[in-house]
This record gives sequence, C-alpha cells and structure tokens, in this order.
Amino acid sequence: MNTRTLATGAEIPCLGFGTYLIADDEVAGVVSEAIRAGYRHIDTAEAYQNESGVGAGIRQALASEGLTRGELFVTTKLWPGNPAWGQPAKTTETTVASLHESLERLGLDYVDLYLIHAPFDPGDRLAQWRGLVELHRHGKARSIGVSNFSIGHIEELKASGLPMPVVNEIELHPWSQKPELVRYLNDNAITPVAYSSLVPLSTWRSAEGQASAKTDQMRAEGERSEGPFKVMATKYGVSEAQVLLRWAIQKGYPVIPKSTNPDRIRTNADIFSFSLDDEDMATIEKMDRGDGVAWEMGDPTKVV
Ligand SMILES: NC(=O)c1ccc[n+]([C@@H]2O[C@H](COP(=O)([O-])OP(=O)(O)OC[C@H]3O[C@@H](n4cnc5c(N)ncnc54)[C@H](OP(=O)(O)O)[C@@H]3O)[C@@H](O)[C@H]2O)c1
Repeated sequence: MNTRTLATGAEIPCLGFGTYLIADDEVAGVVSEAIRAGYRHIDTAEAYQNESGVGAGIRQALASEGLTRGELFVTTKLWPGNPAWGQPAKTTETTVASLHESLERLGLDYVDLYLIHAPFDPGDRLAQWRGLVELHRHGKARSIGVSNFSIGHIEELKASGLPMPVVNEIELHPWSQKPELVRYLNDNAITPVAYSSLVPLSTWRSAEGQASAKTDQMRAEGERSEGPFKVMATKYGVSEAQVLLRWAIQKGYPVIPKSTNPDRIRTNADIFSFSLDDEDMATIEKMDRGDGVAWEMGDPTKVV
C-alpha cells in the first residue's frame, strides 16, 4: 500500500509532499525536513517558482540522511502557457527546453514524473504532449502524465495514437470525488494523484493571500460538515488531516499534502498505522459535492 505501480512499471510512493505556495527561499528547509520525516516523493512545478529551493532541499536531505537519488520520486510540471492570459502556448520544442530548464534549477539529471500542468490551449496540447513523449524516450522524464485533464482531454491524446499518460494529478477529497473521471482513469491504467486533500479543513490555505476563488464558499458549506471528520479523528486517535489523507490512500490515490509546520509535516506522514473502517468509508462516499475549489474542471467529458 505504500507505493503504487505506474503503467511504466515505476513505483510511486503513496505519500508525497506538496510545495505549492512555499517560496523559493523557504522551501529548501521545508523539503529537507519532509524527507527526514519519511516523505520520498516531492511535487513541484515550473509555475511554483521554487524548483531551485526544492533541489537544494533534496541535496541537503540526501546528504544528511545518506539516501541516493534513486530512493526519491520527484515530480515537476510543464507550464503550458495560456494565450487567453496573454502567455504564448509552448510548442514541442519549447516544452523540451522547459524540462531542461527545470532540471537545471532542480540540479537533477532526470525527474521521475513530468506532467502538463493544465489543458489550456486546444491547438497546442498535442504538440506539448509530443514533447513529453520525446523527453520520456530520452530518459529525462521516467514517467509522463497530465494534471487537471478531463476525460475529453485524455481522449484527445488517445485519438492521436501517441503513448498514453500514466498519471492525472487532480483535486480529489471527500467534497470532490470525481467518480466518473476516476473510473475512466482506472480503466485506462492512469493513476490518479490527489492534490488539495485537506480542503475540508478550516485551516486549508487560511494564510493571507493563499485562498482560492471558492475557498470562502466551501468553508461556509464546510461549517456544517466539519463534524464527521472530527468524530472519525477522535475514534482513530488521529488528526482530521490524517483521516482525509488516509481516505485517499484507501481509495488508491497517492497524496501530496503541503505544510510548512514541522509538527504537521510529521503527523501528515503517519497515514499507514491505522485504517478507516467500511462504515466510515461509506459515510465519506456520500459527501461528494462535485467540482473542487482549487481548480474548476466542469464536465469531465468536455474538451475546452
Ligand atoms: N496540479 C495542480 O494543478 C495542483 C493544484 C494544487 C495543488 N497541487 C499540489 O498539491 C499539493 C497539496 O495541495 P495544496 O497545497 O493545495 O493543499 P493541501 O496540501 O491539501 O493543504 C495545505 C493547507 O493545509 C494546511 N495544513 C497542512 N497540514 C495540516 C494539518 N495537519 N492540520 C491543519 N492544517 C494543515 C497548510 O497550512 P500549513 O502550511 O500552515 O500547515 C495549508 O494551508 C500542492 O502543494 C501542490 O504540490 C497541484
């Protein structure tokens, strides 16, 4: 249960560490703390503007913990560019160059997983996917995948005859369970990696300037349903965050919780010493409210 095998045969650790909203000059210490606490999977992105710090944290922890690069699983993501936001869309060539730049910042020879961060521009998605396929062939990305892609977006890749992604990193938690998309991913040997697992907590991105567009709405709705996670946390003698992370693990989704707090970093990693019983899993199954808050995907079958 502590790793999942991707369609490439690579093992992805089910416990990962997220680094969104951790500044480049702060992230090295946080990442090395996480690795010391037992995390072996680190999630960053070109868009987080912290790959240099993440790389420094990895080097510090490899040295202090006596680990080898092969014992870590590192993910980064292509920022595809979005013409609707005035950014040029990346081509196959600039996609390949982007991973080389990420590797330079990270100080690594390869990443374990490279993802297209989002399916922005219809005209360029295939060109970008061709870039990822090329990077995989050259060993610069051991596995390749996508993030925030709907069924329609993945069907578009399938129709091209190119190799399929092996991961789709999406917002998944009790309030956004995306059953249709998850079924499709499982049927197509694509591993769902869950992000923003902790959305139902009142502390989720509560720091100044970190809220998403729908945080207030979800939090207002959440007031009513904070109860069940508290009750379960007390029942198992763990925190509410551990309940949320454990739910994902039992559904088969690797998780990538982010925290800059050393105590939370440690307790969020303790998700293999207990399990939620069938009754609690069934209670959570009924909490789905549809779309997430960090990213609105809309109709999972629609290509936009
Ligand atoms: N592919 C994508 O488009 C995408 C989108 C969003 C996120 N992600 C990835 O997924 C990772 C995780 O998602 P996320 O950062 O949105 O949210 P998250 O990990 O679900 O939650 C992080 C928030 O919860 C708080 N928190 C963490 N542990 C806690 C605990 N034990 N008790 C109470 N509060 C706790 C954190 O504050 P403190 O730091 O103060 O503890 C922070 O505000 C990101 O860092 C990123 O790597 C990917």
